[in-house]
Amino acid sequence: RHFWLRGIRPEAPIEYDPEVGMWHVYGYPETLEILSDPATYSSEVAARYVSPEQAAVAFDGNLTQADPPEHQKLRKLVGRTFTLKMVAELESRIAALTHELLDAIEGDTFDLAEALAYPLPVIVICDMLGIPREDRELLKEWADQSLMASTQLTTHQGDKAQEESLDTQAEAAMAMGFYILELVTRRRAEPQDDLLSRLVEAEVDGERLTDRQIVNFANLLISAGHITTTMLLGNTILCLDAFPDVDERVRKDRSLVPTLLEESLRYLSPLAAGYRVTTRDVEIAGVKVPEGDVLEVWFSAANRDARVFEDPDVFDPARTPNPQIGFGRGIHFCLGAPLARLEGRVAMNILFDRFPKLRVDPDDKPTFLTSPEFTGVWRLPIRVD
Ligand code: HEM
Repeated sequence: RHFWLRGIRPEAPIEYDPEVGMWHVYGYPETLEILSDPATYSSEVAARYVSPEQAAVAFDGNLTQADPPEHQKLRKLVGRTFTLKMVAELESRIAALTHELLDAIEGDTFDLAEALAYPLPVIVICDMLGIPREDRELLKEWADQSLMASTQLTTHQGDKAQEESLDTQAEAAMAMGFYILELVTRRRAEPQDDLLSRLVEAEVDGERLTDRQIVNFANLLISAGHITTTMLLGNTILCLDAFPDVDERVRKDRSLVPTLLEESLRYLSPLAAGYRVTTRDVEIAGVKVPEGDVLEVWFSAANRDARVFEDPDVFDPARTPNPQIGFGRGIHFCLGAPLARLEGRVAMNILFDRFPKLRVDPDDKPTFLTSPEFTGVWRLPIRVD
C-alpha cells in the first residue's frame, strides 16, 4: 500500500539512461551544483526539441525555459507583480474558499483531491490573474488536457499515442493562449485590480512585457501553480495517514504545520524532476558529461540523499535543518513558493479543525499520477469519522 515510503534509491549520484538518451542526476550536492551554475547548466532545454520559430512563440516569457540575462529581466518584471505582500493578503480569501469547498462535501467518504486539493489552487490562481469566475471550468479543462497529454507522453506509449498527446497539448495550450490574449487586450484598454493588469503595466528599466510574454507567463502560472499545490496537499495527507503518530503530534502542536509541509515537500516532492542542458564538457561526481547533453535532475531523489538528510526515510515534521529542494534552488527557485506554502498551511489547519479523524479510505485506494516527473495523486479517497 505504501510503496512510496522508500524514495528513489539510486546506486550512484548520476547515471546515463541510453533508452531516453539523457542523464539522471540523483545526488543532493550534485543537484545543488547544477542548479547554482546556470551558465554551465542551461534551462533552455525544450527549445532543443522544436524549431527556433516555434520556441520564440511557445517559450518567450516562460521563466523556466530562460537563461540569464533574459531570465533576470523577466523575473524582475513578473516579480514586481507577484510580491510576498500580495500573497500574504490572500490568506483570508484562501481560508474562506477552503471552507466553502469543504461545506459542499456530503457523506463521510469522499475524494479529497476532487473536493479540495484540486479546485483550491486553480481557483486561487485564476482569481489572482483576474479570470472571470464563469470561465474557471474552461481554464481548468485546458490545464488538465495539457497535463494529461504530457503525462501520457512520459509513459512511453507508441508513436501514434505520443503524436495525439502532443496534439491535445498543443490545442489546449493554444486555446488557453487565445483566451488569455483577449483578456490582456481588455486589460490594456481598461486596467483592473488584478495580476494581469499589473503584468500589463509592469516596467523595469523602461521595458515592458509583450502580449506574448504575458500570455506565456500566465499559462505557466496556471499550469505550474495548480497541480503542484494539489499534490502538496494530497501528499501531506498520504504521509499523515502512513504515520499516525505524526498526525497526532501535529494536531496537538499546530506550530508544526509549516515544518510538516517542508517535510512533505522533501519526502514526496510534487515536482520530482527538472531539466538542464550542459553548455560545455563537465565532470559530475567523477563522471564525464559532454557539452549539449540533457540532464534530468531529480529533486525527489536528492531530497532523500543520506549524505545530507539523516535517516532520509523517516518522516519527521520537525526536521531541523531541512534544506529540502522541492521548490528547486538558485535563480529558478519557485516563484510561487510563498503562495503554495500559504495554501498548504491554511488548508491543513482547516482540515485538522474540521475533521478530528481523517484517514485514507481503507476500502479504496488513491490513484497516483503516472508521470514519473510528478509525485502525487489524482484521486484521494478519504474516510472521516
Ligand atoms: C519553478 C516546484 C507551486 C510558479 C519551480 C521549480 C520547482 C517548483 C521545483 C524549479 C524548477 C527548476 O529549477 O527547473 C513547485 C512546487 C509547488 C509549486 C512543489 C507546490 C507545492 C507553484 C505556484 C506557482 C509556481 C503556486 C505560481 C502560482 C513557478 C514559476 C517557476 C517555478 C513561475 C519558474 C521560476 C523561474 O524559472 O525563475 N516550482 N512549485 N509554482 N514555479 Fe513552482
